[in-house]
Formats: sequence, structure tokens, C-alpha cells
Amino acid sequence: MSKQSIILGIESSCDETGVALFSPEKGLIAHALHSQVDLHAVYGGVVPEIASRDHIRMLLPLIQELMTGAGIERPDAIAYTAGPGLVGALMVGGGMANGLAMAWECPVIPVHHMEGHLLAPMLEDKPPEFPFLALLVSGGHTLLIAVKALGEYELLGTTLDDAAGEAFDKTAKLLGLGYPGGPLLAALAEDGNETAFSFPRPMLNRPNFDFSFSGLKTAVMLEVRKAEANGNLDERRADIAASFQRAAVDTLVGKAIKAAAARDLGRIVVAGGVGANRLLRSEIKECFSGEVFYPRFEFCTDNGAMIAVAGALRIGEADQSGEIIAKARWSLETLVAPAAN
Ligand code: KG4
Ligand code: ZN
Repeated sequence: MSKQSIILGIESSCDETGVALFSPEKGLIAHALHSQVDLHAVYGGVVPEIASRDHIRMLLPLIQELMTGAGIERPDAIAYTAGPGLVGALMVGGGMANGLAMAWECPVIPVHHMEGHLLAPMLEDKPPEFPFLALLVSGGHTLLIAVKALGEYELLGTTLDDAAGEAFDKTAKLLGLGYPGGPLLAALAEDGNETAFSFPRPMLNRPNFDFSFSGLKTAVMLEVRKAEANGNLDERRADIAASFQRAAVDTLVGKAIKAAAARDLGRIVVAGGVGANRLLRSEIKECFSGEVFYPRFEFCTDNGAMIAVAGALRIGEADQSGEIIAKARWSLETLVAPAAN
């Protein structure tokens, strides 16, 4: 595979249909995203069947538009998210990738969704060098990983209950905000006083690198109930949001910095949907003495560009077997260093 190859990336693991064209030589050529947020909002969360159907509806037109817009007839390889995620939704991306690969006679590369998130900062002008500590915070995962090199991942810590994004989403729900709650809660927090409530910073003083957000969620719930009983929830909502956000961010930043120090890592990468949180981004930069890297906002949440770049780095694993891989669960630690090009 020549260095000038163009990789089409397809992301369909949850509620975003993302596509992108990436070339190792030229970088990101084009990308497009269709969000299903409005479809799921009425249900207050992602409905897997609706997600699959909408990926089917949107994926091909999105790819056609992307390719036409970029003036590219066919890519040299197709990377798709093979997991972890909703199996039906993954099957749509995997089926499309393999079908197109057959028509275009090109190979496919199954990509691990969280490796995509982890590599998203590689799309920026100043990408991180290995090794680094990765704080991966999304709707389904909270991971602290020592990244020695591509495919060499040591899990240092994870959540014992809710994922960081889930904690934001559930707290937002308690506050009567819409779905997805993370960005709405962050927006509301801007008008609040973060010291109004002293919520717990769970596990921050434990020596390990694990997280737990259920105690924080319960503490928020108790304050919401109290405010409801006092009839002043509307007045307290922004303060509760700001105090929750501060507690969650303190916990994430504190643990990440401790883990980096324990492994003598001078770089931290923050990625995944919660990585779009402005307080998290500014706080980790301020508190960490080393370098901090994160993707631009739009590449923190799910997107096709991160899948295309991960595929480019694993181009040596491209094949034409036609096998559709869709894994609901898939540990990042089981990945190995990529095969040589
Ligand atoms: O990575 P992602 O798009 O999807 C998964 O792979 O899960 O992450 C989505 C999560 C949601 O929980 C969403 O509420 C959260 O990221 N999120 C945020 C923000 N933007 C997205 N959480 C806090 N602050 C934000 N600004
Ligand atoms: Zn994700």
C-alpha cells in the first residue's frame, strides 16, 4: 500500500453516522457527520433499533456526498468501527464497508472505536508523540491508559460504575435537562456557582486509578430532591450543575495527573465525548506540568475522521476476507501493535 493511499473511515457504533477521507500524506481530506440526537431525544437515550435504521438510511448518501465533494472516485482502503458499540449499528457500518470494498476491490480495516478516540489528536497540527497517558472519557467508557506505542496499551484505571459521560447525562436528567445531557449540563454550569455545593470527589484520595461516579450522582440527587421540596429547584439548577461539573472534572484531572506521574509520562491525551468539556480541557492544562493534547471539539465526540486515521495507522491489517466484525464488548488491552505495512 503506497503512502499516498486514501482511506475511507466509517463510524456507526452509536448515534452518529460519521464518514471521512484521510491520507497519510495529505492528512484529513474531508469528513461529514449525521447526528441522530433528535431521533433519540424524545426517548431520553439511544434506542438501538432506531440507531441501526437511521445508519442504514444515512450512510450511503453521506459517503456519496463525501466522495463527490472531495472529487475522489474510490478509496484505497475502507476502515470501519468494528466495536465496541451497539451490534446492530456496527453491523450497518461493517456491512457497508465490506459491500463497498467488494465493489471497489479494495481491502477493509476493522477499527476499535476507543483506539479511534485515542488517536483522534493525531488529526491535529501538533500530534502527540508516544508514549503518553490517555484519559478516554465517553458515554460508555472512562479509561486511564498508559500508551507506550500504537497498540501497546496498559489499562491503569477504569470506572467501577458509571462512565464519565453517563454521569454527566444522568445528572442532566436529574436536573430536567434534555438528551444528551453532557453538553447541556456544561452550558448550564456556566451560569452557576461551582462552590455552591461541596459534592464528593469520589476515589480521589485512593491510591489506585479507578473512578466511581455513583456516589456523586446520589449526592446530586439528594440536593435536587431537597431543592424540589423547598420549591427552589429552578434557582439552584445552575449551581448544582456547576458544582457537579467541578467535582467530576477535579476527579478526572486528579486521577489522570497521578497516573501520569506514577508512570513518568510527560504527555496526557484527553479524548472521547467528555473531552469536549471546556472546564476539563482548561483544568488539565493548568494543573499538569507536562504537555496536554486533545482533538478539536468536533473530533472529541464520535466521528469518521478518527476511524479513518486509526485505519491508516493499521493499514497493514487491511484484508479482503469480507468478514463483518461487530463486537458489543472489546477490551482495548487485547489490541496488539500493528502489522508492518
Ligand atoms: O465519545 P462519545 O461521542 O460517544 C461514545 O462513544 O460514548 O461521547 C458521548 C458522551 C455523552 O455522554 C455526552 O453527554 C458527553 O460525551 N459529552 C460531554 C460534553 N460533550 C459531550 N460531557 C460533558 N461536557 C461536554 N461538553
Ligand atoms: Zn465514542
